[in-house]
Amino acid sequence: MIRPLVAGNWKMNGLKASLGEVLAVAEGVASGATGDAEMAIFPPATLLYAATVAAKGVVALGGQDCAADADGAHTGDISAEMLADLGASFVILGHSERRADHGETNEIVNAKVKAAWRAGLTPILCIGETQEERDGGQTLDVVGWQLRDSLPEGASAANLVIAYEPVWAIGTGLTPTVEDVAEVHAVIRQSLVDRLGEGAAAIRILYGGSVKPSNAAELLAVPNVNGALVGGASLNAVDFLSIAGVYKA
Ligand code: 13P
Repeated sequence: MIRPLVAGNWKMNGLKASLGEVLAVAEGVASGATGDAEMAIFPPATLLYAATVAAKGVVALGGQDCAADADGAHTGDISAEMLADLGASFVILGHSERRADHGETNEIVNAKVKAAWRAGLTPILCIGETQEERDGGQTLDVVGWQLRDSLPEGASAANLVIAYEPVWAIGTGLTPTVEDVAEVHAVIRQSLVDRLGEGAAAIRILYGGSVKPSNAAELLAVPNVNGALVGGASLNAVDFLSIAGVYKA
């Protein structure tokens, strides 16, 4: 049995007043609203420490990115060790917004995954095709090479989560069909097993891109979908809890 993970990526949203949402999620989790699902929130780094307090130990916390180096002369950057020091246990790496807005290549993401492991964090490694790539029939190729090149040696179910996020589905309200999600997740699973062995059958593969309360049940029931990486709908505790409520027995 794979324990599902429902992760909320707040992106560049949230001020101190938003900590009430973390508290509300923690209360919902404590009251059993999310069943066996593991819950994690990825606030902006500015709120990370305060969020660990509000999360009351029942919601995990993570960073949205980290630097490859542990410390040094890198103005504005935040290391994996700094995230871990604040109480993070996860870090999102290779999100398409980082790849597009900050020129992050697979090689850079690969180095950041190693940094996360060095600090004891579990990376959520994001991969996914653009609309142009999907229209060109390249989805499986793109996802395959992103996975191959972004993932260093040494991955296992204990230290890695994958998130498949089609770029065109992020923030658009559009989602792939369940058949398309099933196909891509099956290919990701197979390539993980081919590379890492049977233990990779237990690596969590999340779906992300316009997940909301109204489509969560359908998307989370797809084979090889072991949870969700939620953007916009994670900013509201009621919506975020409702998505994870799919896992309530
Ligand atoms: P939305 O849920 O807002 O589409 O964002 C998805 C995402 O990018 C999560 O990382």
